[in-house]
Amino acid sequence: YLNYCVPRTRKEIFETLVKGLQRLEYRGYDSAGKALDGINNNNIVLIKKKGKVKALDEELYKKDCMDLEVELDTHFGMAHTRWATHGEPSALNSHPHRSDKNNEFVVIHNGIITNYKELKKYLNSKGYEFESKTDTEVIPKLIKYVYDNREREDLSFSTLVERVIQQLEGAFALMFKSRYFPGEAVATRRGSPLLIGVRSKYELSAEHIPIQYNTGEATEPISMFKEGVQEKNSHNRPDISNAVNSVEDGKAVEYYFASDASAIIEHTNKVIYLEDDDIAAVVGGKLSLHRLNRLAGEVPVRAIQTLQMELQEIMKGNFEAFMQKEIFEQPESVFNTMRGRICFDTNKVILGGLEDHLKEIKRCRRLIMIGCGTSFHAAVATRQVLEELTELPVMVELASDFLDRNTPVFRDDVCFYISQSGETADTLMALRYCKDRGALTVGVTNTVGSSISRDTDCGVHINAGPEIGVASTKAYTSQFVALIMFGLMMSEDRISLQTRRLEIINGLRILPELIKKVLTLDKNIKSIADELYEQRSLLVMGRGFNYATCLEGALKIKEIPYMHSEGILAGELKHGPLALIDKHMPVIMIIMRDACYTKCQNALQQVTARSGRPIILCCQDDPEVSKNAYKTIELPQTVDCLQGILSVIPLQLLSFHLAVLRGYDVDCPRNLAKSVTVE
Ligand code: F6R
Repeated sequence: YLNYCVPRTRKEIFETLVKGLQRLEYRGYDSAGKALDGINNNNIVLIKKKGKVKALDEELYKKDCMDLEVELDTHFGMAHTRWATHGEPSALNSHPHRSDKNNEFVVIHNGIITNYKELKKYLNSKGYEFESKTDTEVIPKLIKYVYDNREREDLSFSTLVERVIQQLEGAFALMFKSRYFPGEAVATRRGSPLLIGVRSKYELSAEHIPIQYNTGEATEPISMFKEGVQEKNSHNRPDISNAVNSVEDGKAVEYYFASDASAIIEHTNKVIYLEDDDIAAVVGGKLSLHRLNRLAGEVPVRAIQTLQMELQEIMKGNFEAFMQKEIFEQPESVFNTMRGRICFDTNKVILGGLEDHLKEIKRCRRLIMIGCGTSFHAAVATRQVLEELTELPVMVELASDFLDRNTPVFRDDVCFYISQSGETADTLMALRYCKDRGALTVGVTNTVGSSISRDTDCGVHINAGPEIGVASTKAYTSQFVALIMFGLMMSEDRISLQTRRLEIINGLRILPELIKKVLTLDKNIKSIADELYEQRSLLVMGRGFNYATCLEGALKIKEIPYMHSEGILAGELKHGPLALIDKHMPVIMIIMRDACYTKCQNALQQVTARSGRPIILCCQDDPEVSKNAYKTIELPQTVDCLQGILSVIPLQLLSFHLAVLRGYDVDCPRNLAKSVTVE
């Protein structure tokens, strides 16, 4: 965060940073830290703390070196909340990391540096001592090394950064601060998201859009680490003075650098999304952007975009937790996924982001749906209906496994990347893998401007609104609906499928109302949670269109209440899982009136014959099923392929209530982060 010619007290600056961090806390939260200019602006104060952002905030007021009321015209402060990858959660391992005891350079980093061991070895050999166990710490040490060895060159801050990132492998979004460059900010990214919010009391007029960036020749990579030791580097980054500035000289402006728009939306909705290898520098209130390497055919602009997100969308309101709020938002979020895309009069479905590629998709050899966790389950949930509506083979793939297998992919494949955040590292890598093999790539994301939405050939935004709770809920049901809409779009000219299409479209029309009805079961589900919360294990069984609900329900029960849970395909029961059943094992069964109804009843018989006491999710008024149930949760019946949207909601609610009863923090489950930007 950098304010230029905007007088702010130090306290206001602290609060801006803390608030921003709190909005991002859902991404990772085992420790947090800040760097601020100290008194006289010639030293940098670091404040780091294990635990949540609140702990950091409290720590701040214990620092007597800070005059909180002092007003500053220009100030650049940075803050970070960490989710440990290398090194346990601790104050020492949290960011910002520093070059030395005098805090000459400090850095915050999202992502992972894969060649940090080599860099560390090299820097150790040059006498640099490390204090943390992180991969990140090589970065501030490296920039100090470049600075200390600059000889007589007068290097700008961004040139130093550029030289550093030429040595880095892996994924990163980085912010640098230095006591040698007070009031300046440098940021860069490769593989991890980073955006810049711009706020000025002067309108950002059209002439400031788009921001151009330096198109000069790229520097050659320095080879001092990679190919033996070459201490001196004579290459200079091109002069950035020809970069166009986003503000005119002297005009008051504030810049907010963040990995996610939710951290800054209360200050500005004008943002610039950085691309890989962009380097952004603010010097004297002017923002300039330049790149390491110019890509072939690249257009040298970055537009200032206006975000539609509202602050209230990322506030909890009257709910106890974001997860609960997001579960209850599903009538609206699902409606928003369909809004303007389904014409209920003509039964036409138009996904604008796919229209231009529809012909190509129809000609493809197969569809491959790729995702992780909940997003993968959305693919499992819709596979059958997509096969039916597209008449194409549909593969569903966990991104990590897809890559592990080096799965064959061809030019005539169409690959879908399903991701709420649009930043999941495994899914992104699978995207790059398929792009390299010439497949058409389609993004299904909830985050406008995310890496997946930008790097795919075409795509669908699910429009569920920001999802803050770490456990994905509303994104799942919106992904589900978006994928079904894709199937409907593909089958529009298939005469034999019109009756089926109509049935599904009519089902979608009333879906928000049916979701509202399911949500009225909350009390009933809470009472079931009251009975189950002390159990160690919970099995969830079903088949056909509801198998994905079993997987997704079990995932929710694992990640929030930390209960062991397994989603079991009822058809597999007698091939093993039946051995687990006795009168003590809690079992949830999903038995809906669809093509698998009779087979599910057989499974029910097998469970009750072993003294199992199943809680059954079934359709309203089903005496046949109810008589064998220990308890029932009765759901409105809808079209078979949409039933999974209704059947997952009771399990989302159950997971929430179990977690509350077990005393856990619903929005911040241990060891998990919202956006998994590391492999
Ligand atoms: C579970 C959950 C995760 C994510 C997974 C993929 O509740 O949220 O399993 O679904 O990490 O994340 P996205 O969808 O952002 O790619």
